[in-house]
Amino acid sequence: MTQTTQSQPKTRAQIADKTLRTDPWWRSPMVTATALTIVVIYLTWASLVNNHYFANPYISPLYSPCLATTCAKHSGLDWIPWLSGLTPAILIIWGPMGFRLTCYYYRKAYYRAFWRAPASCAVREPHAKYTGETRLPLILQNLHRYFFYVALIFNVILTIDAVLAFRNSSGQWGHMGLGTLILIVNATLLWLYTLSCHACRHVTGGRLKHFSKHPVRYWLWTQVSKLNTRHMQLAWVSLFWVLFTDLYIRLVSAGVFSDPRFF
Ligand code: FES
Repeated sequence: MTQTTQSQPKTRAQIADKTLRTDPWWRSPMVTATALTIVVIYLTWASLVNNHYFANPYISPLYSPCLATTCAKHSGLDWIPWLSGLTPAILIIWGPMGFRLTCYYYRKAYYRAFWRAPASCAVREPHAKYTGETRLPLILQNLHRYFFYVALIFNVILTIDAVLAFRNSSGQWGHMGLGTLILIVNATLLWLYTLSCHACRHVTGGRLKHFSKHPVRYWLWTQVSKLNTRHMQLAWVSLFWVLFTDLYIRLVSAGVFSDPRFF
């Protein structure tokens, strides 16, 4: 440890120059910021618009489980009065949003893209102090391990939605359309993203002293660890697929085109 680091333990890396980088280091945070801005704008609009989220038998993942009284396909919770004033999406978005906002990968992405903390390696930071995630509000990022279980519940519900999409609009089973396929891919990607979570890795293999005494957990941890190496890619693909699924169902519901039926 250098003398500088010892005497200034709570400051950020000391770089006199604006950056020591000669490569286009800003490209990655700029692309991330652009992509996240598009996602936030679309999600805000789609959650508030409160229409065209159901095209029988498909329901948008942004609106499922559909709890509001205004729901085209609601769950029977319309006896809860305060549910009636909100859109079905707003009622549930805290679950998947909380999981993604506190995700280790997304934290890195938006800290770099929006706060520039840090902007990149060997780039001077605009912030003089570093408190990390040790105080409010960022200490709430520690809730991620609990949002993991919330995400599992949403995955089960969206998987059921995908299975229910094997019906036709009259409710008869044994049918499949392009929307069914899109919902299946959506559920699969969400499971892969969730199972590749660092919290899942801890659940499967954390706190074990001897893997040899826990062969099942060791095997599970090994599989999750393999998925975990793709966590960033799964985070982006699953996120955009949710948006694409919502858009597809929205367009079918609005009558822009009809859902092609395979059988
Ligand atoms: S670390 Fe990304 S979802 Fe848990």
